[in-house]
Amino acid sequence: MDRKEKLEEAKREAVSCTKCAFWKERSNVVFGSGNPSARIMLVGEAPGFNEDKRGVPFCGKAGEVLDRLLLSIGMDRKDIYITNVIKCRPPNNRDPLEEEIENCSGYLERQISAIQPGIICCLGRHALKDILKRFSIQEEGSISRLHGKVFEKSEDIFNMVRIVALYHPAVAVYNPGQFNLLQKDFSVLKEL
Ligand code: URA
Repeated sequence: MDRKEKLEEAKREAVSCTKCAFWKERSNVVFGSGNPSARIMLVGEAPGFNEDKRGVPFCGKAGEVLDRLLLSIGMDRKDIYITNVIKCRPPNNRDPLEEEIENCSGYLERQISAIQPGIICCLGRHALKDILKRFSIQEEGSISRLHGKVFEKSEDIFNMVRIVALYHPAVAVYNPGQFNLLQKDFSVLKEL
């Protein structure tokens, strides 16, 4: 199976998933979108209202900020693959519980292993916590301390993944003055 087929197979399972109660209120499973051959994978937290309605990650206000950030480094969505830790919208956008994250974990695992990204960008603290744990990287600290940092994990010399800690784009929705800071962190991607 190629990357696209692996993703499609995992998505078929996700769209009928009932492992946690989120399925009862969802309009759509928001599995992921973008380029399955991308070197860069972006991981957010969970779908919000707009994403749930359309089934597309980051298609609301935070998505607009994300598009501006990508543009600022000369990229757009066709250059990346984007998904979330959680594939269904939590009621009222509440933080997902540990067991809900655990239930959903296999889907992100399959996305990572299908795409084999060289760079994983964690958008916000929830994604960062999840990805660091997945790659057994022990790093304590808040996103306000870790943003802009790059962690490297190599299974062997041919197989290295870089993990980039970034603020969630929603930060600049609520506080537009922070856009420049987010943009500065994003420029790390250009260097990589
Ligand atoms: N926030 C996220 O973390 N993910 C989305 O898809 C939208 C908003």
